[in-house]
Amino acid sequence: MNFPHLFSPLQVGPYRLAHRVVMAPLTRMRAERSSFVPRPLNAEYYAQRATPGGLLIAEATPVTMAGRGNPGVPGIYSRAQIEGWRGVVDAVHAKGGLIFLQLWHVGRVSHSSHQPGGALPVAPSAVPITNEGMLAMTSDGKMVPYETPRALETGEIKDVIEAFRQAAVNAKEAGFDGVEVHGANGYLLEQFLQSHTNLRTDQYGGGIENRARLLLEIMQAAIEVWGADRVGVRLSPYGIANGSGEADPMPLYAHVVKALDPLGLAYLHFIEPRSSGAGRAEVNWQNVPSAMVLFRPLWRGVLIAAGGFTGETAEAAIAQGHADAIAFGRIFISNPDLPRRLQHGFPLTPYNRATFYGGDEAGYTDYPVHEQGAIA
Ligand SMILES: Cc1cc2nc3c(=O)[nH]c(=O)nc-3n(C[C@H](O)[C@H](O)[C@H](O)COP(=O)(O)O)c2cc1C
Repeated sequence: MNFPHLFSPLQVGPYRLAHRVVMAPLTRMRAERSSFVPRPLNAEYYAQRATPGGLLIAEATPVTMAGRGNPGVPGIYSRAQIEGWRGVVDAVHAKGGLIFLQLWHVGRVSHSSHQPGGALPVAPSAVPITNEGMLAMTSDGKMVPYETPRALETGEIKDVIEAFRQAAVNAKEAGFDGVEVHGANGYLLEQFLQSHTNLRTDQYGGGIENRARLLLEIMQAAIEVWGADRVGVRLSPYGIANGSGEADPMPLYAHVVKALDPLGLAYLHFIEPRSSGAGRAEVNWQNVPSAMVLFRPLWRGVLIAAGGFTGETAEAAIAQGHADAIAFGRIFISNPDLPRRLQHGFPLTPYNRATFYGGDEAGYTDYPVHEQGAIA
């Protein structure tokens, strides 16, 4: 078992990846709890998972205070946060790894306790999350019903774009190799994309073209900072995370992918429908469409797929031409040396869901490397 396709080089923008085992963006809520600055512990965690020529996508990172929805999540909007991230990036680079930062605004998936001045969270429209069992997390970690968000004024949307632009600049200053715009999992940009959360009547709402406008304008802003070949984007068509879900995703996402295709991005990153919401529960849907299979014909660039992959299914997806690289989430949490384990067929350590979010070393930096895989 050595997975010849998974362990072959891949050109991503200007970077030559040595293999196609990508670390998926993973929120772990372990930044400094009042300044939201990445800590040396976070640098250690990422460095453990870095390999020469391997790509890590750092956890979703709010571009502005208003984009926050969880405690302990690092930001990229203050000087101290930029410096904190530099420590992470340097540690990854010291091991020869590459690291992109995922740029995030949660929109309505927030609570006033996170917001400047205790204001209501903002969203395309004043539509709260009411799905059964879905709760907001307050700044002190309590689970409470979601509030009804405040609809952004048309004039405020340029401030959102500006926040993403500035975050892209800040990420560059921190030394990242690129950025990934978070357009998935029910957060702000997906709230704009989808018809049930976007009831706007201005140029950012209504038809598909209007609903896709904000995502595309933010892509443009990130491209102006980085160049298109260092900017990726993550989408989750058919996803159900955080109250999302478009009744008929195909026309919407076909439009988005077709609009993204000519930009010359570093990559397009899909979360497979079967694993949407993986952070909260085990979900493994049968008979759901595969995003990579559906949209690959519309996309000429690098395609990364994520969601419930094993070494075997990752190898098959690449061998069949459905994806160019595979991002692994949960098993990368519990296997810091995941690429070596997959390559050599070493057994995987199971993950502990209880330590996914928040806390310190436990379930974060204390997962062992396989003894035969240990690098001197
Ligand atoms: C603890 C945890 C945190 C996550 N955080 C993020 C995140 O910050 N950004 C994101 O786009 N997806 C996030 N996800 C989704 C993962 O990136 C990935 O798509 C999902 O876990 C499915 O892949 P897997 O089956 O390999 O775990 C998270 C998932 C988990 C389990």
